[in-house]
Amino acid sequence: MKKKWWHDKVAYQIYPKSFLDTNGDGIGDLRGIISKLDYLKELGIDIIWLSPIYKSPFVDQGYDISDYYSIAEEFGTMEEFDELIAEAKKRDMYIVMDLVVNHCSDQHEWFQKALADPDGEYADYFYFKKGKDGREPSNYRSYFGGNVWEKVPGTDKYYLHMFAKEQPDLNWENPKVRQEIYDMVNWWLAKGLGGFRIDAIINIKKDVNLPTCEPDGPDGLANGVKMVEAAQGIGGLLEELKHETFEKWDAFTVAEVFNMREDELKEFIGEDGHFSTMFDFSAHELTWGGHGWYDSKPIVFKEWREVLFASQKKLQNVGFAANILENHDEPRGASRYLPKYAQNEAGKKMLATTSILLRGIPFIYQGQEIGMTNCRRNDISEYDDISTLDQYQVALDAGCSKEEALRCCYENSRDNARTPMHWSDAKNAGFSEGTPWISLNPNYAEINVAEQEKREDSVLSYYKKLIALRKNPKYCETFTYGNFAPAYEMYEDILAYDRISEETGERIRVVANYGQSAVALDLEEMKDNCEVLLSNVEKEGEAAREIKEKGLLTLKSCETAVIRL
Ligand code: GLC
Ligand code: CA
Repeated sequence: MKKKWWHDKVAYQIYPKSFLDTNGDGIGDLRGIISKLDYLKELGIDIIWLSPIYKSPFVDQGYDISDYYSIAEEFGTMEEFDELIAEAKKRDMYIVMDLVVNHCSDQHEWFQKALADPDGEYADYFYFKKGKDGREPSNYRSYFGGNVWEKVPGTDKYYLHMFAKEQPDLNWENPKVRQEIYDMVNWWLAKGLGGFRIDAIINIKKDVNLPTCEPDGPDGLANGVKMVEAAQGIGGLLEELKHETFEKWDAFTVAEVFNMREDELKEFIGEDGHFSTMFDFSAHELTWGGHGWYDSKPIVFKEWREVLFASQKKLQNVGFAANILENHDEPRGASRYLPKYAQNEAGKKMLATTSILLRGIPFIYQGQEIGMTNCRRNDISEYDDISTLDQYQVALDAGCSKEEALRCCYENSRDNARTPMHWSDAKNAGFSEGTPWISLNPNYAEINVAEQEKREDSVLSYYKKLIALRKNPKYCETFTYGNFAPAYEMYEDILAYDRISEETGERIRVVANYGQSAVALDLEEMKDNCEVLLSNVEKEGEAAREIKEKGLLTLKSCETAVIRL
């Protein structure tokens, strides 16, 4: 395998709006990010992914871009952005932007021109289609609810939007659109970006001619993803994108891909794949309900372990996955993956360990490193996210009570991860001097950076140790390229695996007890050569003694250890 510069890196996602506000307008900004680069460096971060910071009406929090060449005023200026890139570079860090090119904002100049002349050149930048019998061309549902087709005012045409109606889909079949996109991508890469996180990219190829089909909900619509699944030939588009842009700059790319076809994995992230890597969403997909958040499913440990392992085994023969526990679209990992009894500091450290030492590129989401949690709201009016508002209604329409609908938002809402970062226990968690754009999780008094920085045994201090271990030149080869092999699968509650270097033969075992009672793991055969590299309860010495004397390692509930065999 050809080694790439990003193989051994650790990434961190910033949600700029909620990271740090330095001018008191309640909105996080580029100055705030610049001022925290040292914090991130100390944590061990190499690559920083910024959720969109382009000019936008923020209907979908910046994932609706009205000008691809401008920084949103809310976040700062282009000069500040250039400064961010330069400051990151000084620290050997890379900035990765979000590339949102399946759709733009309805306020984008292209769409405005298309509306002004629905038969003109710009209408072809989008999907404009005649209606059928005075109705939409078909009955597919957009991801945020409602028909994917929206009327073009004053005409008998409709335009397509897979997401909100303010996010019209760009027509990738039009070579002019593709060229506009390539020019823009190259313009940003020329500034010295490390690469891009590529939004919703699987949607760029779709079959807009699918006929009306059997509805799957009370709204008379059918899941719009069918239009994506029916499409063939996305590979050609993705290869062209790569050749025209990323490849020229040796850029790092991480794609957001759901509903991946297994036989296409190699094409996507193999040695010469379309992308460097893509997020492994297999665990998240476990929670999906058939109809919406109201019928989503809780994580069952054994199923989770099974898909995690299956995914690791499958991917290691192909390329590198990007491993995440949470992001700006998902609930907090500590609230989702940890059983109630494990929702404490030991549990959070355990979850971090088993995730970050997997094979792949670890992505940490802001606040994860201090163990931030989901946030309870008392009323739907306290939510901002467009998808949460839709899913709340979907739940009510399906017959849920208000309480039940709110509970499913508590468990699934994208706003769980979008509450402001907890820097300290000061006013607004030190996030802003003004009024934050979205209210905080009240638990910032207990969970915050300042408090955890003071404490050796905090979640934050542990994350630093864990990342340092992964990057330690002694073990880096094994943690980066080593194969993955499950261990102790016969135990109901143990999540354990080995990372084995083909190059050096080194074997490092990661063990964790997600159950409630203690388990003694057999290490008899290796007892004379074990070295305990890390323990989340700081008993490296004690554990090493137990292994040496008894050939066993006893893990209490929520205990985890990393052992070189
Ligand atoms: C991706 C983003 C999400 C956004 C959607 C539309 O899934 O992660 O936040 O709403 O694409 O751009
Ligand atoms: Ca601000």
